[in-house]
Amino acid sequence: MRRTSVLLAALGAAAAGLGLAGAWPFLAAPPFLAARTAGGDASAATIALGQALYAERCAACHGAKLEGQRDWKSPLPSGRMPAPPHDASGHTWHHPDGVLFRITREGPAAVVGGGYQSDMPGFGTVMSDDEIRAVLAFIKSTWPEQERQYQAEMTRREQGE
Ligand code: HEC
Repeated sequence: MRRTSVLLAALGAAAAGLGLAGAWPFLAAPPFLAARTAGGDASAATIALGQALYAERCAACHGAKLEGQRDWKSPLPSGRMPAPPHDASGHTWHHPDGVLFRITREGPAAVVGGGYQSDMPGFGTVMSDDEIRAVLAFIKSTWPEQERQYQAEMTRREQGE
């Protein structure tokens, strides 16, 4: 089970640095976020592009409906983790924009470091930065309001606003 928590631990450490120690990763969107607006600034065209890119590049592992792989919290026989859902039942929405971008561009192994192994490649060689932003905008557009607000707040903290 050790590998199970490596990515979460690494990203959790980043969250602790943002003052969320103890809350990670089980935090539901706290009430103080309720009044903040989600940064839904992507255009309909960007989201449509992102949806097409998701189907082409991501759906094979993360699911056509963003549902992830079966039993995604348990390691595969290889010891690597299955692909988690990108819907509200997963934890993609716990991560700020910069982390999501780097995971997609460089792959989880490069982001976690320390010899961590992942079945997900980095997409930086086959997708432009704008395409990566579009696919993430699509994923974000599917989240309920509370998850969108939480993720927008994480992004504001990441950017030091
Ligand atoms: C070959 C399978 C595969 C493909 C294709 C794939 N992923 Fe992944 N993805 C994974 C796996 C497995 C993980 C779990 C990370 C790990 O190895 O611990 C993951 C994790 C992630 C995470 C971190 C989620 C979290 O909750 O921490 C993000 C973000 C992500 N993928 C985005 C994408 C996007 C965007 C695409 C398409 C451009 C994509 N992935 C395509 C397998 C894949």
